[in-house]
Amino acid sequence: KLIIRNFTMTQCIKIKHYNKVVLVTLNRPEALNALNDELRNEFLDKVLPLEKNSNTQCIVLTGSEKAFAAGADIKEMSTKNYMENYYNDMLSDWEKFSKMRIPKIAAVNGFALGGGCELAMMCDLIIAGKSAKFGQPEIKVGVIPGMGGSQRLTKIIGKSKAMDMILTGRMMNADEAERSGLVTRVIEDDNLIEEALSMATTIASYGKASVMMARETVDRALELGLTEGLLFEKRLFLSLFSTFDQKEGMKAFMEKRPPKFTGE
Ligand code: CAA
Repeated sequence: KLIIRNFTMTQCIKIKHYNKVVLVTLNRPEALNALNDELRNEFLDKVLPLEKNSNTQCIVLTGSEKAFAAGADIKEMSTKNYMENYYNDMLSDWEKFSKMRIPKIAAVNGFALGGGCELAMMCDLIIAGKSAKFGQPEIKVGVIPGMGGSQRLTKIIGKSKAMDMILTGRMMNADEAERSGLVTRVIEDDNLIEEALSMATTIASYGKASVMMARETVDRALELGLTEGLLFEKRLFLSLFSTFDQKEGMKAFMEKRPPKFTGE
């Protein structure tokens, strides 16, 4: 049973610390967690520093039963103009979350649309409740994805499905999302958070450097050619032999006991 060590709440998010796992909940129910400036500022302000907290090893990001997030806030965006958006580099700050080096799991119930789907794809894994609905419906409000959807969705599910989603704006249910490779597993809605925390706890039980490097190598596979990718993997693999956790992990295996990883 997981014990909550610390709880923080701001206007739009809630943060619970369970030992090495942190659960971040988007909490703007009146707008189905639409990502407005206030939510984004609070989120980045509270979540980015978790990386510097040596105790945090995995983040779970979730929303409500009805919505993970229904996109960027259309009401807030509707009157914005090009120059203002250009100078503010609109929505680019979210990439800082994607670049966090510890693993992030999106636990999605309900709508993950537009920026919500893009935020889920910034995580390293997506697990979904049966009710989850994914989509990039920006075309319906006269724009296109602006937080990475055209790139990440295409890399994850391939061109034909990505074109279908982005050009028609249709939603994809959890089963289709799992078949397409967008979602790693589908869970009963009521068990979603428990399952995500359990997965995060497993990840957080391993050596921290190996977890971070494992994440980094898989991520790089989307960007590098095979020769460079294999070299990158080999360099990180070899570097882990400088850690205490490698010695401990292999020794524990031979001594037939559970390892005691320290992150060193
Ligand atoms: N922005 C602002 N407010 C939103 C919102 C959004 N993206 N999505 C929902 N809301 C608000 C609604 O306006 C409504 O508020 P009011 O009660 O004040 O009218 C409240 O949340 C509840 O929503 P609905 O009444 O519409 O709920 P529903 O169950 O009938 O429909 C829905 C749910 C299908 C998700 C529908 O709300 C919807 O289509 N939302 C917009 C989805 C969308 O287009 N997202 C993409 C945004 S653009 C973007 O994200 C750009 C990018 O790439 C970064």
